[in-house]
Amino acid sequence: SLLRRSLVTLAATAALVPAAFAQAPIVIKFSHVVAQDTPKGKGAEFFAKRAAELTKGRVKVEVYPNSQLYKDKEEMEALQLGSVQMLAPSLSKFAPLGVKEFEAFDLPFIFDDYADLHAVTNGPVGQKLLKKLESRGITGLAYWDNGFKVMSANKPLKSVEDYKGVKMRIQSSKVLDAQMRAVGAVPQVLAFSETYQALQTGVVDGTENPPSNLYTQKMHEVQKHLSVTNHGYLGYAVVVNKKFWDGLPADIRAALTKAMADATKVANDTAFQDNQDALAKVKASGKTTIHQPTMAERFLLKKAMFPVHQQMSSRIGQETISEIYKTTN
Ligand code: LMR
Repeated sequence: SLLRRSLVTLAATAALVPAAFAQAPIVIKFSHVVAQDTPKGKGAEFFAKRAAELTKGRVKVEVYPNSQLYKDKEEMEALQLGSVQMLAPSLSKFAPLGVKEFEAFDLPFIFDDYADLHAVTNGPVGQKLLKKLESRGITGLAYWDNGFKVMSANKPLKSVEDYKGVKMRIQSSKVLDAQMRAVGAVPQVLAFSETYQALQTGVVDGTENPPSNLYTQKMHEVQKHLSVTNHGYLGYAVVVNKKFWDGLPADIRAALTKAMADATKVANDTAFQDNQDALAKVKASGKTTIHQPTMAERFLLKKAMFPVHQQMSSRIGQETISEIYKTTN
């Protein structure tokens, strides 16, 4: 009968509903604060592509660059609340969660080069630090490189004395605060997304960042001088909401782990060159005078900033600092 046939159709349709739900992709919102054309931006884009490939479309990673979804502080809260699933904040931004050991990465002159850094991030210290995030509801998946920071302002920053009274934007790290005070500068914490405008309007005079961040945010257009001090490192931890991660089917988690390993390689392979290129582009713009510190200038900067290691050791934990010294020697 007609009734029977429509009941059968209804049952068939109902049976399809759960199947349709099962087919809907798992969405990962990946929020970050920098431009797409940066090591982090490229790493995130590659991860999205690779995750789709390796899960055959069962996972869809949506990347939101340039603080378009959340600014620094908000993104960390959003991750813990589960409003986004994935972030790659700079290592300087984890201390406000109560994991102060991460500020060891901010210590001025602690790493001579990427080799020193990788010895730490790829070794037991790096893994131990990521584990500490778990009690905050966060799982650490990888370290991604950016690079070594330059100093910029509207006046030349050559000698230590040049920093006196200069208002410098920093990330939310007590170690960076101490580093700036060590040379007589006046540090001010601002979200990354607010930095360009703060420089433009004179809320702050200068800042520190790897060249790729400076250039892609057009900070060189509002900074007349830049010193290639390479005094400290800025890089990232890629993190996911732990509950979300633990709740994924095991095969999906395995595929995403592989996609993350591949994306880590992409981000890290491009980081050094991106920063070189950015510096060349700043130079070519003719808007900013680039100063290469002499060995003596760099030595004096190091001498002025190095006491910060001692000063911050009880905050960061002497054990972590000693382990880093041992790993990089
Ligand atoms: C900054 O705030 O300067 C950086 O952490 C931005 C970034 O994510 O590289």
